[in-house]
Amino acid sequence: MKYNWIDANEYTMDSFLLFDRWALCWIFRDCNYYAGDYITDMAKALYKYPHIDTFCRCKAPECSQFLDKVREVPFDNWTNLEMRKAETSILQTHETFVVYAYPKVMEKVNYIRNWNAKYLYELVDLKDKIVLDVGAGTGRLAFAAAKIAKRVYASEPCDRLREYMRDKIKMENITNMKVLDGEVLCLPYENDTFDVVLSGHVVGDEYDKEIAEMTRITKDGGWIVICNGDDEFKRTSPNKELTSRGFEWFSHKSVEDGIIYNYRKPVRK
Ligand SMILES: C[S@@+](CC[C@H](N)C(=O)[O-])C[C@H]1O[C@@H](n2cnc3c(N)ncnc32)[C@H](O)[C@@H]1O
Repeated sequence: MKYNWIDANEYTMDSFLLFDRWALCWIFRDCNYYAGDYITDMAKALYKYPHIDTFCRCKAPECSQFLDKVREVPFDNWTNLEMRKAETSILQTHETFVVYAYPKVMEKVNYIRNWNAKYLYELVDLKDKIVLDVGAGTGRLAFAAAKIAKRVYASEPCDRLREYMRDKIKMENITNMKVLDGEVLCLPYENDTFDVVLSGHVVGDEYDKEIAEMTRITKDGGWIVICNGDDEFKRTSPNKELTSRGFEWFSHKSVEDGIIYNYRKPVRK
């Protein structure tokens, strides 16, 4: 899905130097995943930035097979213009990872910039609660929750975003929020740990497994809450994958006329 969160012309392949192993493994997982000219474009981009090839192989050795395939593309006297075009195409394809590498840019993307914390507070009572935000990003939900909850944990697989949240916690002297690593399919917490498990724009690749893992760490009587940001997409109905799994939904209009759906589900064990 193309979001147009960045103008790739403003970035170079050196952005890859900010990607962690988790992101590189996702990008270089399977040659067959990409359509069209992707492999040739990657060959052109890496011809211009050979140190990025070396960096990726060192940081995430699992990527070497994919990168070997890219190296098989024969050099065809590419001009600087052709290589730059290929570079921007690769960066636009991976715009989500580029945005995660520059958290200050991510904060300015509309779904975060335009969001109002009242939508979270209307969904769930956070007072005195122990809360987890899964895939917290820049901490849109976690920082809002920390204003009310007893304690908030923000789990995030991208190290640049973890560092960003930790710096903000220090700068704003927040005492009830901690940042940890963690992926939605294997969250590093014991069963029945949290009163409320939050997420936004994370659940959706493997609904059953993701919801099962979030349910595992939620206490009996707790809540799973999916509180999305305020983007411009004009959705026409709530997500059936969530409503069919027992989520109640709420909707509102964003300032850019998007139709935003939020969801919550009580956990009973
Ligand atoms: C679109 S951003 C949303 C950030 C934040 N939740 C928000 O709504 O403002 C998606 C976030 O999920 C994280 N993410 C991606 N895959 C994930 C996974 N498998 N498990 C947990 N988080 C993941 C990304 O690093 C990123 O921070």
